[in-house]
Amino acid sequence: MISPSHIAIIMDGNGRWGLKKYNDRNKGHYYGLQNINKVIKNCIKLHIKYLTLYTFSTENWNRPKKEIEYLFFLFKLFYQKNFNKINKNNIRIKFIGDLKNIPADLKVIIKKIQEKTKNNNRITVVFAFNYGAKSELINAFKKIHKNKNNKISEELISNNLYTKNMPDPDILVRTGGEKRLSNFLLWQLSYAELFFIEKNWPDFNFLDLKKIVNKFSGIKRRFGGLDE
Ligand code: IPE
Ligand code: IPE
Ligand code: MG
Repeated sequence: MISPSHIAIIMDGNGRWGLKKYNDRNKGHYYGLQNINKVIKNCIKLHIKYLTLYTFSTENWNRPKKEIEYLFFLFKLFYQKNFNKINKNNIRIKFIGDLKNIPADLKVIIKKIQEKTKNNNRITVVFAFNYGAKSELINAFKKIHKNKNNKISEELISNNLYTKNMPDPDILVRTGGEKRLSNFLLWQLSYAELFFIEKNWPDFNFLDLKKIVNKFSGIKRRFGGLDE
């Protein structure tokens, strides 16, 4: 039985969940964030070493200012509230994305949590925050372009992405019923197994994760070759 080492999740459907249950999109964001603690715990139980969570995309700036402000407020609260627990549980936190336009107070927290947990090794939880795959690739190409002796290769591109030194995801999960990538890890997902789940993110639970991991274990990954 082959276990995945890296799961990436597009945590979608918070707004619809909140509207349906409380007539309030923000309630969906609130409960969606609570669910992150559970999914981290569940990934640890399943011995997964990397979990990457899409928390805010470069396109999410198109949302109403009020919703964006509430999201940033929630993220800040989440990191402040869970910081000690995360560190105590030997969890390493990493952020990928463009931190330039993030409010200064949130940036301080992000840098601190990343620095303090950098030697933890039970699981690496990667928050894709103000993340967009196209902007990640543009950044990489700009860096590569600076040195005219660079010989373009897969390795060189991978090493210039935010995800440098991380294995590519084995599994991509998207909750909320839509079947698209929404500018998430376009390079790194080249060979991931894709799972699109109807449930909205706040309802995604251990059983859903376990089912996906079990199904993954039974998949023959050929990587372009043939079955033995
Ligand atoms: C995902 O849920 C969370 C973020 C993008 C921050 P949505 O807010 O996209 O929820 P839906 O898709 O509108 O229901
Ligand atoms: C993707 O969800 C981004 C996150 C989950 C953070 P969106 O709801 O923003 O994606 P679209 O707009 O449906 O493609
Ligand atoms: Mg959505």
